[in-house]
Amino acid sequence: MARVAVLASGSGSNFEALAKALNGGPHSVALLVCDKTGAGCLDRAARLGVKSLVVAYAKGGTPEVRQEAERTMTTVLESSGIDLVVLAGFMRVLTPLFVNRWKGRLINIHPALLPRHPGAHGIADSFASKDAELGVTVHWVDEGVDTGAVLAQRSFPRTPGLTLEEAESHIHSLEHELYPQVVLSVLDGLG
Ligand code: GRF
Repeated sequence: MARVAVLASGSGSNFEALAKALNGGPHSVALLVCDKTGAGCLDRAARLGVKSLVVAYAKGGTPEVRQEAERTMTTVLESSGIDLVVLAGFMRVLTPLFVNRWKGRLINIHPALLPRHPGAHGIADSFASKDAELGVTVHWVDEGVDTGAVLAQRSFPRTPGLTLEEAESHIHSLEHELYPQVVLSVLDGLG
């Protein structure tokens, strides 16, 4: 039985999909870590009965500031007996300190078909492109931004007249379907 922590910054719809999918099975989403007071994911955690924690990132964005927050996160993750760390809309770039500590136990979901459109605006960038397909990617996290080995992808064709709102909604429903499947299969492989 494995314990999963989700790191999120925003609405937390992927966190909720994961918590619900694992609920009732051998594994659990045991912890939500959020870097933003008042984020929607914290309300979802309270509603779902998942323990949550806000980790403050001090102002500055320097590697030292980020590493300090990451040390706090690792201490909590270790003391909570976490086996797998799942990023779901966590809007901070992790330093090698954190990535190396959790390597092989750290995955992310990105709302575009990597290696195309990495970065913070995957949906807008892929929608604005002339790509014939849009989609989502689940990948291992390495030291780069959205560069880790791909675990799984799902795509759909760009239909004529597709709006940004429709693309977003299709992408989010694919995420909610794919992420729990991949997390469960990664957990099976962790042994
Ligand atoms: C998702 O689109 C995810 O791919 C991206 O951030 C978004 C998070 O959405 N990394 P939510 O907070 O899970 O609703």
